Amino acid sequence: METSPSADYGYLRTLVFGLSQNVLDPSRDYLFETRLTKILRNQGMTHLEELVRHLKVRKNPVLERSIAEAMTINETSFFRDSRPFELLRTELLPKLIEARRHLRCLRFWSGACSTGQEAYSLGMLMFEHFPLLTGWNLKIEGTDICAEVVARAQAGCYHRIEMNRGLPARFLVRYFDHQGENWVVKPEVRKMTNFRQANLCGPALPFNRVEDRFDVIFLRNVMLYFSQETRKVLLAGIHRVLAPDGILFLGSSEQPADPSLWTSVLAGGTCYFRPRRPS
Ligand SMILES: C[S@@+](CC[C@H](N)C(=O)[O-])C[C@H]1O[C@@H](n2cnc3c(N)ncnc32)[C@H](O)[C@@H]1O
Repeated sequence: METSPSADYGYLRTLVFGLSQNVLDPSRDYLFETRLTKILRNQGMTHLEELVRHLKVRKNPVLERSIAEAMTINETSFFRDSRPFELLRTELLPKLIEARRHLRCLRFWSGACSTGQEAYSLGMLMFEHFPLLTGWNLKIEGTDICAEVVARAQAGCYHRIEMNRGLPARFLVRYFDHQGENWVVKPEVRKMTNFRQANLCGPALPFNRVEDRFDVIFLRNVMLYFSQETRKVLLAGIHRVLAPDGILFLGSSEQPADPSLWTSVLAGGTCYFRPRRPS
């Protein structure tokens, strides 16, 4: 894919960074051409140059936000990199359940949830393997900056191609209803979830009250788009909303920016992080 010699990609990269903190490498400027096609069409424009010119003369926060959202990478799948889910099943959840047996409440957060497969995978995992949680207050929060993927997560409706990626066959019939070419998450799993649009890098985290404490946070495959400074600030916030015995999973190529706040634990062929308390 080619780039246009006269488009001000630097302007677009700065705009995206300002709104989502996603750092876009100039070597991938060609992505603007494909990903902004729909926005150009809706604006009645044909070239990126026109869009940039328009934005430079007139502030348009709605349009700017939609550009930042269109540039996000939303790749995901059910039980993506199965090892964290397997470790939760075999080791981590049994211990957490024991620790919360009086409270009877467990809270999960899929930060950067994209179209929701990560959150629904957690729901199915609990349904399938922990029947003793019936009657517990279980909540799986999913947040993402991109309105379009959040709407898809809320709908819980997936094409059969998406279903073929990572989902054990028996889960398909047990936790989904078939509707034409699509499969829709059954209400018993959906009611555990709550999805909303939120920026992980806004002035405040989407959850920041003491009562928002989470037991398990998945923050996978998003920090790789952020600068080191952004990661540091984000993970300091995550540290505040994770229970003292809570668990953080990052993507397999991601590490906490400030290791002094986290203890990394290698287990089950994967790595997770426990919050360290200041001594
Ligand atoms: C590659 S997907 C990862 C989805 C899922 N966590 C997984 O590992 O399969 C990255 C997601 O991060 C979201 N994202 C990027 N920047 C964000 C930000 N500043 N705040 C919240 N979400 C963001 C994107 O919209 C995208 O859906």
